[in-house]
This record gives sequence, structure tokens and C-alpha cells, in this order.
Amino acid sequence: MKFFVDTADVKEIRELNDLGLLDGVTTNPSLVAKSGRSILEVTKEICDIVSGPVSAEVTALDYDGMMKEAAVLSKIADNICIKVPLTLDGLKACKALTSDGRKVNVTLCFSATQALLAAKAGATFISPFIGRIDDMGVNGMELIAEIRTIYDNYDFRTEILAASIRTVNHVKEAALIGADVATVPPATLKALVKHPLTDKGLDAFLADWAKTGQKIA
Ligand code: E4P
Repeated sequence: MKFFVDTADVKEIRELNDLGLLDGVTTNPSLVAKSGRSILEVTKEICDIVSGPVSAEVTALDYDGMMKEAAVLSKIADNICIKVPLTLDGLKACKALTSDGRKVNVTLCFSATQALLAAKAGATFISPFIGRIDDMGVNGMELIAEIRTIYDNYDFRTEILAASIRTVNHVKEAALIGADVATVPPATLKALVKHPLTDKGLDAFLADWAKTGQKIA
């Protein structure tokens, strides 16, 4: 499973990238707004840090507008992945952009049939929003399972990018189902390493080691 980080916070991205944990980055208009920076400037800085795909989202709602914005965003760096919404215009833009060799992430997916359309439009990634579905009182993970089945049935190459991840358990379940990628907020990504028995075991080993008075280096 590939790990993308879901943020436009350059400090967090640099830290996770230095750990060797990042395969890519996803941003969205809300995350860019939260960063308080210009989309072009912050996205360029992210692309300079991470070599994998960096999703930058269009904000136009019509096909022509999306294509104009995609042209500007594409110039930022070679690893830009254009993010388009799951609308008819978004799918049309997806088809045009991927036919032209661009990577496209189709976002705001909440149903298996939407994911089917995105695959048919040649999407590089489909982003089902797990947490937001859970918020509606429905198990978002079932959507990941449905999309996995459909994509496998027809051998679609579109990668399932589990998005709106809120918990460590979301990451585990998405991995068990076979999502190709999880895009995870920085704090949740770091929380994946935590286990109380790891901490307890380490404390015990170090206490015993201190009694020996030895040093390795
Ligand atoms: C994905 O690309 C989105 O940026 C993100 O996962 C949305 O998550 P949220 O529902 O926590 O805003």
C-alpha cells in the first residue's frame, strides 16, 4: 500500500518525507486555505520535497475552466497530479487530461457507480471519502470493498486512493481490502507506529540494559 499525506503543511510533509514514509501528497482547496499560502507557491514547494504524485485540485466547475486551471497547475512540476471533482465536467476533463498523459485524481467519490465512471474516464486515482461516509452513519469501508471488486472484475488500472481517513483503523481496513493508496493526515500517519506494548517492551529492555553498564557505541 502506498502512503500519501493529506495536507498542505510543508513542515509536516518535509518531516514525513525525511522518514522515508511518503509516496505522494494530496491537497484540496480547504487544506491550501488552511496553509494561508498561495496555491502555486505552496504546491511548488511540496513538489520540490516529494518526488511522488502531488494532487492539486481545480476549483472551476465547468470543463473549459477546469482545463485552463489544469494547464496552470501542470506547469508547477512534473509530479503534479490534477485533482478534479466527480461531476460530468470533471470526468470529461479527466478523460482529456489522461489522454494527454497527465495523472488525474478524481475526488469526492461517494458511490461505487461514481468510481466506475471515473475508471472509464481513465482516472489515475479514484478518491472515495471514507470518513465523510462514516459521518452519515454508513460504513465507508464498504465502498472501498465494492470499488475493489468492480475494478478487479474489469481489470481497471485506476488506483483506489482511500481518502478522508480519520483513524489508524481506517488505514488497516483499507489495506486489508486492498486499497492501492491511503491518503492520511500527518497525525494519523504518525499514530500508525504507536503500540503500548512496544513502549512497555522498550522500557523493560532499556532498564535491564542499564543494569549491565555496557555501551554499544
Ligand atoms: C483527499 O484527497 C481529501 O483531501 C481528504 O482526504 C478529505 O478529507 P476530510 O474529509 O478529512 O476533509
